[in-house]
Amino acid sequence: MSVGGQSIQHFPLRRYIGDIFKTEPFPFRNIGGFLGKDNDKKFRVPILRNITKTAPYFHNGAVKDLKEVIKIMSRYQIGEEFSPEQIEDVIAFFKTLEGKIVPYDVNLTPEANLSHYNLKGSNLSNMDLHGINLKYANLQNCNFFETNLKGANLAFAKVKGANFTSADLRFASLNYVDLRKIDFIETQLQGINLQHALWRGGKECAKGSFGKCL
Ligand code: HEM
Repeated sequence: MSVGGQSIQHFPLRRYIGDIFKTEPFPFRNIGGFLGKDNDKKFRVPILRNITKTAPYFHNGAVKDLKEVIKIMSRYQIGEEFSPEQIEDVIAFFKTLEGKIVPYDVNLTPEANLSHYNLKGSNLSNMDLHGINLKYANLQNCNFFETNLKGANLAFAKVKGANFTSADLRFASLNYVDLRKIDFIETQLQGINLQHALWRGGKECAKGSFGKCL
C-alpha cells in the first residue's frame, strides 16, 4: 500500500561505498539530528507513493532532482551505475505511483526537538509549545499568535517577519536572535534571555521595555 516505508536501513550501504567517498563529498549532511541516537547512518526507507511530487528528497532534503536521487540510490544502495535510459524507466515507474496528496496535521508537542528546522512561514498560533527546542531554527514569517513558548529555546533562530503577538515568551531564550524588526505586542516577556540579541533601540531592554528581561 505504501510502496516502501517498512524498514530502517543503512544509507549508504557499507558494502557499496568503495572508493566513492574519497572522491565525492558525503552528500547527506546530518541536519536536524536524523542519524538517530547512535549516529549510525540508519534511516527509514521512505514510501514512494507520490514520490514525483514530494521534492526535495532524503531526510535532509539535500537533493532536489529525482534523477539524481535514483542515481545515488543505484550507486550506494544496490552497487550499480544506471544509464540515463534506466533512470528514465524508474521515473516512468514512479509516475504510476502518483495519486492525490493527502494533507495531514503535524502534532507538535512541547518535548519536540526542532533545532535547525526550517519552519519558515508556518502557522504555529494557539499552540502549547512551552519548553520546545527551536535553537537555530528558521522561524521567518512564522505565526506564534497566542502560543505558549514559555521556557522555549529560540537561541540563534531566524525570526524576521515572525508574529509573537499575545505569545507567552516568559523565561524563553532569545540569545543571539536579531529582534530589531520584531514588534512584541501584548507578549509576555518576563525573565526572557536576550544575551547577544539585537533589538531596536539597543538599551531599551535595560530600561524595562522588555519587562524584567535582564
Ligand atoms: C534502484 C533502486 C532504488 C530506488 C530507485 C530507490 C529510490 C529512493 C528514493 C526516490 C528515495 C527518496 C525518498 C524520499 O526522500 O522521499 C529513497 C530513499 C531511501 N532509500 Fe532507496 N531506492 C532504491 C534502493 C534502495 C535500497 C536497496 C535500499 C536499502 C537497502 C534503500 C534505502 C533507502 C533509504 C534508507 C532511504 C532514505 C534515505 C534518507 O532519508 O536519507 N533504497 N530511495
